[in-house]
Amino acid sequence: HEEATKVKNISRIVMGKWKMETWYFSPFPKEYSKSEMLYICEHTHTHTALPTTPLPRPRPAFPDPFPRPLSPNPFPSPPLPPGGVQVDPQYQRAYCENLCLLAKLFLDHKTLYYDVEPFLFYIITEAARPTPIPAPLPVDSDGAHMVGYFSKEKVPSLAEGGGEYNLACILTLPCYQRRGYGKLMIAFSYELSRRESKMGTPERPISDLGLVSYRSYWVYALLEILHKHRGSISVQELSERTAFRTDDIVKTLQAFNLIRYFGGQHSILVTPKTLEQHYTNAKPNWIIDSTKLRWTPYH
Ligand code: COA
Ligand code: NA
Repeated sequence: HEEATKVKNISRIVMGKWKMETWYFSPFPKEYSKSEMLYICEHTHTHTALPTTPLPRPRPAFPDPFPRPLSPNPFPSPPLPPGGVQVDPQYQRAYCENLCLLAKLFLDHKTLYYDVEPFLFYIITEAARPTPIPAPLPVDSDGAHMVGYFSKEKVPSLAEGGGEYNLACILTLPCYQRRGYGKLMIAFSYELSRRESKMGTPERPISDLGLVSYRSYWVYALLEILHKHRGSISVQELSERTAFRTDDIVKTLQAFNLIRYFGGQHSILVTPKTLEQHYTNAKPNWIIDSTKLRWTPYH
């Protein structure tokens, strides 16, 4: 796609207390390309090239281990993402469009969705500091800090190779990467598929980082079942239990040399020793407490 080959136009962004190098081009308004840095509100994702009048920031209760931003967040913002479990662009169009513009800075192979309407957005946030009172939501005195998000089609389309696409785009902001949030979002996306009683798979193409994350998630989930299971188990059965489509299961098991194709069918071949080895080397997946999830498929 033409856009993907465009030269990076924004070099840095400031979000909350973080300053980040960007990775790729994103179609922000042209006037921004002259400025070195873009300020993006971590609550609304509105952007500005120059900080406006800084807002006073609450002093942290204890020394903050991370450097403060060069300029405080110039936006007076609501502290939480809009929406309930998910953000619907039908009601929050600007929020979703700005989020896609931000995400494109870290994605090179995706066409930016100018039309956000067909998707729902699932935002993940964290509290930057412990809250004095245990709160039901991860918020601190600055509100909820967006860590990343994933999007999913309101009406999922059928995937090539079986199943339905259950995730369109996934992003963990670079300052929060490699802490397990990517796999948490992947786990959540499959929880939604299980609610829909559908086999899900992420939209292709997947980036290298995306594939590494999925492979790690898939293999652990499969090994967890194989580890506990006694007797033989079919790929189909694994698929029913995980909501992973059979194609992804076969490819994952092949990548880890745990499956053979023999006599016209796949057999999962794994000795207790190999299983133990893989299982103890892997990082455990998140467990989603599905009883806490108030969600019904989009209608
Ligand atoms: N190099 C090597 N391995 C990496 C890695 C890196 N830079 N980043 C993540 N991983 C591995 C982790 O070690 C982990 O595997 P493990 O648990 O077996 O050790 C796995 O990938 C997932 O890590 P996790 O911390 O859960 O993921 P994340 O929060 O860093 O997010 C992405 C993963 C893909 C969402 C993130 O890299 C990202 O936003 N990339 C840019 C956007 C993109 O490419 N999205 C996917 C296509 S739509
Ligand atoms: Na990690």
